[in-house]
Amino acid sequence: MTGANAVDHIGIPVVDLDRADDFYVNTVGLTFQTRRKNADGSPRHTYVLAGENVVGLCLPGIHTEPSESGAPRYGIALETEERFHETVERIRSYGVPNGGVEEFDEPSPFVKSFRFDDPDYNHMEVCLRREPLDGICLSHVILEATSLDRARRFYMGALGLKPVGDLRGEELFSARNGQLIGLKEVDALSDRTKRHGRAVHVAFDVTHGDFDTMVDMIQRLEGRSMGDHRAADGLRAPGEVSIFFFDPDTNHLQITAQGEEDWTLLPDEEKWKRIKENRAKRGRGISSFDAGKTRASSD
Ligand SMILES: [Fe+2]
Repeated sequence: MTGANAVDHIGIPVVDLDRADDFYVNTVGLTFQTRRKNADGSPRHTYVLAGENVVGLCLPGIHTEPSESGAPRYGIALETEERFHETVERIRSYGVPNGGVEEFDEPSPFVKSFRFDDPDYNHMEVCLRREPLDGICLSHVILEATSLDRARRFYMGALGLKPVGDLRGEELFSARNGQLIGLKEVDALSDRTKRHGRAVHVAFDVTHGDFDTMVDMIQRLEGRSMGDHRAADGLRAPGEVSIFFFDPDTNHLQITAQGEEDWTLLPDEEKWKRIKENRAKRGRGISSFDAGKTRASSD
């Protein structure tokens, strides 16, 4: 059976990168990894780490209200009760909206959770898992779906996720390592789902053996592949294959089968040199945002 091994990284939209860096490092307690730049050296996004999982804080962000459905929402698993309560206290002190600590009985995969909004109105959550994952890491991502049947077929059939039950009106599905994707059925998608924001996506790690089958199933089950712009830009390590795609509700996703090396953190100068060279061969340039000539927009 094909199936995603893990959720590897996510990108979320932010409009003020300094504020987001400060919130995720000093209040949520994630680890600063690097800040990436546009072609002119202006800020593009910051990577913070939840253990081995990258959370990308991505400019220019989107200017919208919080979604009413509670999704999209991104959950981070903490490794101890002590860390959970310290983190909750820091988030409460910061003053963002929150839903208080919730406790769950078996068979819920969660023992405790605390939902809050970040300063950019992204719905977030920190939790303690019943079966601990690998230290601090991404625990779950909840996405909106206008048809639960169609979304269920997609996540089980194309991504090979396993159903683990319903919690809080959200249907949960597990990757091989226990990280979860949840589906929240809505009558209409919120602005936060519809408007995306540059580089906002959820990325899964898959095996080379599964990759081609998954690409095929994504198309058959009403997903839409966008190909791999990073390969066209010369940014994929040897042996690495990936596609960006949309689920049937236009949630932006990615699957990657890793190569022998990791080129994620190529120096910015080298990265932009390769992008410009490869696009010139195809008679194309880079966008004004990539160039750094435009600042925060409403997109
Ligand atoms: Fe990605």
